[in-house]
Amino acid sequence: MNTLFETRRLVARRFLPRDIEAFVAMRNDPEVARYQSWESYSEAEGRAFLEDLARLHPGCPGWYQVALEDKATGRFVGDCGIRIMEHEPRLAQIGYTIARDGWNRGLATEAVGGLVDYMFAAFPLHRITASADPRNAASCRVLEKAGFVKEAHFRQSEWFKGEWADDVVYARLRSNP
Ligand SMILES: CC(C)(COP(=O)(O)OP(=O)(O)OC[C@H]1O[C@@H](n2cnc3c(N)ncnc32)[C@H](O)[C@@H]1OP(=O)(O)O)[C@@H](O)C(=O)NCCC(=O)NCCS
Repeated sequence: MNTLFETRRLVARRFLPRDIEAFVAMRNDPEVARYQSWESYSEAEGRAFLEDLARLHPGCPGWYQVALEDKATGRFVGDCGIRIMEHEPRLAQIGYTIARDGWNRGLATEAVGGLVDYMFAAFPLHRITASADPRNAASCRVLEKAGFVKEAHFRQSEWFKGEWADDVVYARLRSNP
């Protein structure tokens, strides 16, 4: 079973070998990479990433990446990440990326909403967090629209791509979704 969850316009499923081209192209877009850990992304890195991922399953400690497919076109449009915290399986973190030609259509908000519902249903989670660079206004907006509460703004807390960057932390609790 490849599908983890569906939303109105998206299927969230395991990555498939056919995703490689669109996935690498997405990660190589400098606008997509701006607030992410990578600068550029090779096809070899993409292949290794997908091979590693094929051995994992959602719910295992650490990061698991889920592909997002547009139901209307069948195309890969982005991904989201689930991290079950290694030290405490009732805590999790998420991440999300949409390829640039899909931006500002509400896709990330839809994906994050579906992802959180899926995670609280599938795993015994108490709390899900997400962190963003506050300059990444679109990402902060996605979290607000998806019902996350801003809990902290850490000043110059991360050495990121040659400079100190702030980090804002958002959360949703199972008891107060
Ligand atoms: C952040 C990202 C996932 C948003 O995806 P998306 O599908 O465009 O998001 P949505 O359409 O659901 O919502 C975007 C919201 O941000 C707003 N927005 C977009 N750019 C903005 C900007 N520069 N300043 C302020 N708001 C902005 C949009 O207007 C929209 O809000 P609205 O519905 O109130 O109008 C996408 O830009 C992306 O993949 N970026 C690169 C990867 C990344 O940074 N991921 C997050 C890591 S924490």
